[in-house]
Formats: sequence, C-alpha cells, structure tokens
Amino acid sequence: MNNNKKVIILGIESSCDETSASVCIDGKIVSNIIATQSIHTEYGGVVPELASRAHMQNIVPVVDKAIKEANITLSEMDAIAFTQSPGLIGALLVGSSFAKSLALSLNIPVIGVHHMQAHVISNLIESPQPAFPFLCLTVSGGHTQIVLCKDPLTMEVLGETIDDAAGEAFDKAAKMLGLPYPGGPLIDQYAQLGDKNRFQFPEPQIEGLNFSFSGVKTSILYFLQKQVKADVDFIGKNRNDICASIQHCIINILLHKLKKASAITGIKTICIAGGVSANKGLRDGLKEMGITYHWSIHIPSAIYCTDNAAMIALTGYHKFLNGITTPLSASASARASW
Ligand code: KG4
Ligand code: ZN
Repeated sequence: MNNNKKVIILGIESSCDETSASVCIDGKIVSNIIATQSIHTEYGGVVPELASRAHMQNIVPVVDKAIKEANITLSEMDAIAFTQSPGLIGALLVGSSFAKSLALSLNIPVIGVHHMQAHVISNLIESPQPAFPFLCLTVSGGHTQIVLCKDPLTMEVLGETIDDAAGEAFDKAAKMLGLPYPGGPLIDQYAQLGDKNRFQFPEPQIEGLNFSFSGVKTSILYFLQKQVKADVDFIGKNRNDICASIQHCIINILLHKLKKASAITGIKTICIAGGVSANKGLRDGLKEMGITYHWSIHIPSAIYCTDNAAMIALTGYHKFLNGITTPLSASASARASW
C-alpha cells in the first residue's frame, strides 16, 4: 500500500430491509445512501423474499449514487466492505454477491463485516468520538446487546436478550394496538403526548446483564384483552397513555441493565446504537442517567442509528488498516458468533 495514498472503502449493507452504500475516505464518511423498502408495511413485518427482490432492484442505483456523491471513481477504491452476517440470508446474499463481483472485476479485496459490530462502530462516525473502552447498548429490531468495546476491532458481548429484541417488543406491542409496522416510531410519537405512569407493566427479573421482553409482551397482551373486554374503545380513548406506559417499561429494562453494566465494569463512557436508539424517551432517559451517574454519553445522529452502510464502510476501513480482508470463498451467514 502506498503510504501517501488515501484509503478509500466502499461499504454495502443489505442485511434486512435497507439497501445502503457508503464511501469512507481515510476514516471519514463522504456519502451514505439508503433506500428503505416500504413494501413490507402492508404485511406487518419484513417479508424475506420481498426484501431480497427489493435489494436486487436497489443495489446498483444505490452504489452508483454513493460513488457519485463521494466524487470518486470505481478504480480509486481500495476494498469493498459488505455485511456478511447476521441478517436475512437472501438479503445478505444480494449484497455479498454484488460486493464480491465488483471487487473481482476491480481486482481489489472484499472485507466481510459483522452487522452488530458495525452498529457499535457507528458511534465513531461523528465527532466527538467516545474514548475507549466504552459500553454500547445496541438496540434494534433483531438484537438487544450490551457490548464492551476496547478498540474498533475488539469487542465483547456482556449481555443480550434471551428472547425478543427491544425493537421487536415495541413493534409487537404496536401491533396489539392496531398500529402499522414498524410500530416503534409511532409508539415513540404517541408516548410524547401521554402519561407514562398511568399503567404499570412488570419489569422481568433476569440475572446478570441479559434481557428478556417476552414476559412484558404477554402482560401487555393480557392487560389489553381485559380492558377491551370491559370497554371496546379502551385503546382509542387511552392510546397516548398506553404508548407512554409501554415505552416507559421497555426503556426502564434497558437503562437498568446499562446502569448495572457500568457498575460492574467501572466504565462511564456509554454509547447507544441500533434503530431503537432513535427513541426520544430512551435518548432523554440516557441523558438524565448521564447527569446522575457522571457518564459521558454518545448518541449517533438518527441516520446512523438505523441500518446504514456508513457503519459498514468505517468498520471495513479499520479492518483494512489492520490487514484484515475476506476470501471470496467466504459465504454470508444468517447467524454469527463474535
Ligand atoms: O437497527 P434497525 O433499523 O434494523 C434492525 O433491526 O437491524 O432497527 C429497527 C427497529 C424496529 O423494531 C423499529 O420499530 C425500531 O427499530 N425503532 C424504534 C424507533 N425507531 C425505530 N423503536 C422505538 N422508537 C423509535 N423512535
Ligand atoms: Zn441493524
């Protein structure tokens, strides 16, 4: 590698229902294009086959736009980073096959990236960056984890959900309320108008730093069934208070474990990532805890919280600097260990 040459990495993300491409030059994100698939809304959740097809349609224009916006040419690129795991296998295969074919044609390496590690790295995209080591609460539609990050390539999962993810809990509760998918942002919106202490849902007592949301989900379901039996308009009349109370319960579960993780590790630099980190109640709650416990809080801009290729490109950049590339024979995988 020529030491004076800039390191240019193209990142590609296609693990779920966002097709995204981003260019990272010397560790700085210069483009981040995201095509969100709206087709899943009418089905109440992501339909894997439809996601793969939409990725097929979107990937060429999205990559093209990312490269144009970065004002570079394909021949200038050093490597292509792609989401290798975890995710929907058909969706991952679209991005990984595209990345490998393009890299082969340009005679440059590919770099497989772990989607959840990349979510943690999204905290390094903007300034000021958190100091290492830091803790990251990663909360998305598929995952809920507390990760100890020692440097861009050294991470350890300290705790994770044993059943549903936090985003899933939001989306399933929203479905019970008759709200369209994904319901998390709508619960957030209505919660801002409601009384969070009006209804109580029990917080599960799970040992250690793991999470559980299935009990909360069941208690919300039984509560709503009972109330609707007594008054058929219960949800309509109390929507904001119900949303505020559900959100309050989910946020409390997340923040209590984060507090515990900080106490156990002694780490006070706290980051957040994943789609649910766009939640206003969670952001406000985290800021309050930051003041109370003297934490240094880092919250990425909303665009870097949900799935995006900037986090893939930046993770790829750090791997590239450390000489880590992936053979073309490596396959995408729906599940992944760390
Ligand atoms: O990280 P993400 O974009 O995709 C993956 O799951 O990997 O996260 C999507 C999840 C969905 O469950 C969605 O409902 C939730 O993030 N979400 C929110 C908010 N915005 C997105 N949940 C609560 N409040 C929000 N403002
Ligand atoms: Zn994600």
